Amino acid sequence: MKLDKYTKLLPKTGMGEQAAYDLLSHDIKVRSANLGSDIALAHMDPPTPGIASKLVGLNAQFNQNLLHPDLSPFATDVERRLIEWLAPVWGMADGHMCGGSTLANLTALWCARETGATRVVASVDAHLSVAKAAHILAMEYQALPVDGHGRIELPKMADLSNTCLVLTAGTTGRGMVDPLGKTGALWTHVDAAWAGPLKLSKHASLLDGIEDADSISISAHKWFFQPKDSALILFSDTESQDLVSFGGDYLAVPNIGVQGSRGAAAIPLLATLLAWGQDGLAQRIEHGMDMAEHLADFLQSHPKAELKQMPETGVVNWRPTVGSPEYVLRELGESASSTKINGELWLRHVAANSHADVDLVSQRIERCLR
Ligand SMILES: Cc1ncc(COP(=O)(O)O)c(C=O)c1O
Repeated sequence: MKLDKYTKLLPKTGMGEQAAYDLLSHDIKVRSANLGSDIALAHMDPPTPGIASKLVGLNAQFNQNLLHPDLSPFATDVERRLIEWLAPVWGMADGHMCGGSTLANLTALWCARETGATRVVASVDAHLSVAKAAHILAMEYQALPVDGHGRIELPKMADLSNTCLVLTAGTTGRGMVDPLGKTGALWTHVDAAWAGPLKLSKHASLLDGIEDADSISISAHKWFFQPKDSALILFSDTESQDLVSFGGDYLAVPNIGVQGSRGAAAIPLLATLLAWGQDGLAQRIEHGMDMAEHLADFLQSHPKAELKQMPETGVVNWRPTVGSPEYVLRELGESASSTKINGELWLRHVAANSHADVDLVSQRIERCLR
């Protein structure tokens, strides 16, 4: 831990707000990844628009709390309006915001359990938050294999009458979309943490069938370009949220979902959508999809690279045919991350940063493969 400037013991006397700000703002800038750099193409975390980060600061000044509508009447209305705008995009009827898709997945599985589901089935490529939620909820968990493309393989005639089936729209490692649509499960949840926003772009048909889900998770801090912590949990039935609502003597309205106090993530999301419009959002997502395609074409035609598959939702996997992927990963720094596929290490690029320059990333790859 490089914290030499900070005393080991809790300071007895304060240094003052300006000095503390100067100290911390410097260290944040120096020791955080530059997600908006022209070579950043590694993770599902985009740089956030200025308007969103400004409004996060303003939200904090008013210390808004969506648990109590009287503390944040405007933000409460804004979240309602956003849900009205957005839920129908995926064929859903209701929902709320929460701190991330880990919590959104937990909320969905909790609803499924309240409906009678006793086990959770997902693919081996599902995000770890799904197994974690099943564990928290003491539900049986089964991971099914995936096909050669990384999509869940559901056994024919499987009895899913006691099951919450979790399908992923944009798997974390490979960005693949499980076959969506009617499943026969007691509860079908689609984890669209990453690829959900594609529904607002010209690639919407990749998510055909998502409207048959009972619930959907979408991380707004991924392809809605929001600062953390921002996600949506959406339900097809307006009564589903009642299953995860608790009243309290001190509360004017029931507390819905996993979190109690939570901030007004709806405001920066509304601001971004007002500033960019659906077209502006779509254009950034489509640019990401184009970048991934472009990079995949480059890798496919490279004699020293093996592309795993053409990208489906802006995630590219490849490895060098000579030398080690570990070496390339180290050399590429912020341009690449990695994932294991069938136990083997593959490089991974995620096209979340609209400012990335794929030609620069390709040149860096070229240098590593020389
Ligand atoms: C498919 C999928 N589901 C869930 C999550 C967890 O989301 P969060 O990090 O917003 O909690 C992720 C994170 O990368 C993800 O890729």
